[in-house]
Amino acid sequence: MNVSIKEEAQMKYSDPNQFYENKYSTEFIIEVQDLEKSFNGIKAVDGISLKIRKGELFSLLGPNGAGKSTTIRMLTTVLKPTNGDARIKDYSLIKEKNKIKPLIGVCPQENVIFKALTAEDNVEFVGRMHGMDPVDIKKRTNTLLEKMNIAGRKKPAKTFSGGMKRRLNLVMSLIHQPQILFLDEPTAGLDPQARRLVWDFIKDLKNTGVTIILTTHDMLEADALSDHIAIMDLGKIIAFGTLEELKSSSSNGNILEFSFSSRDELIQAKSKLERITNVKKISEMDNNKLIISFTGGVMTFKREILREIESFKALHFREDSLEDIFLKLTGRGLRD
Ligand SMILES: Nc1ncnc2c1ncn2[C@@H]1O[C@H](COP(=O)(O)OP(=O)(O)O)[C@@H](O)[C@H]1O
Ligand SMILES: [Mg+2]
Repeated sequence: MNVSIKEEAQMKYSDPNQFYENKYSTEFIIEVQDLEKSFNGIKAVDGISLKIRKGELFSLLGPNGAGKSTTIRMLTTVLKPTNGDARIKDYSLIKEKNKIKPLIGVCPQENVIFKALTAEDNVEFVGRMHGMDPVDIKKRTNTLLEKMNIAGRKKPAKTFSGGMKRRLNLVMSLIHQPQILFLDEPTAGLDPQARRLVWDFIKDLKNTGVTIILTTHDMLEADALSDHIAIMDLGKIIAFGTLEELKSSSSNGNILEFSFSSRDELIQAKSKLERITNVKKISEMDNNKLIISFTGGVMTFKREILREIESFKALHFREDSLEDIFLKLTGRGLRD
């Protein structure tokens, strides 16, 4: 993948928060080769290969059931692959998994927390399991819990809200300062405020040089955090690149979003749009919405589309998003 595209994008965007201070290196810390996992003869992960650079944030984006968690569970030595292998730092996943374990931290999709213990005791327990020095454990635990806004609570974790449990599990996954961190849907179930907090936390962490692999079905999340994105569907990687690369490679024109007041109105409009040659694709979404990609820019928009579609509730003109890219590749929405 070409680093100069990223540099170009960095110059193009004036918002400094959009990109991170540190650049990922050109060294690959993970190389996955033809990794495959079958459950009862069905391939949940169907021979994927990918390379992840040291210090980058790599997102696996895909709808439910795509095979993201199965991939993470194999890479974190929880599940044995049916076929293939991966090199993590200098070690083979198949032959040297015990050497890999100390290098990695994992926040699984389902929280793993000792419900009867406080947040502090949960984190300290994990620190001791990793053989850390008790004084270090205390210091790091406090700093991390404070950053996650869950410090100083003396109640057992079973009294925590879903969002607090998620944030506690994140802290538990990185108490031992892993070089590589796997986060499986880190913000699933969090309210927007907690989600922001976790995003900021992940960005800070990335700036300390940790390589982060996260899964998400949230396009905004992948967009906000990732250096590289692999889009996964039905066990396969169907697209890979930086956000800019994904957009430019799949772009086939402009995007219009029409909202209609009723389904009848939508159906009428759809049949008219289907007759316009510059309209390349029409996708029907929930809430009486149509997403249209078309060529010919403003001229097509004014002379062909607006002339045909007389009644609609709202109209939105925009650039391709990750959702559009996924739609184009699969014909389905990410949330289907
Ligand atoms: N332990 C298992 N036994 C049987 N099927 C499984 C198991 N784990 C996952 N699957 C199946 O593998 C597919 C991929 O699942 P998963 O990796 O959890 O997807 P994602 O994390 O992208 O939502 C799904 O069809 C799921 O039902
Ligand atoms: Mg999953």
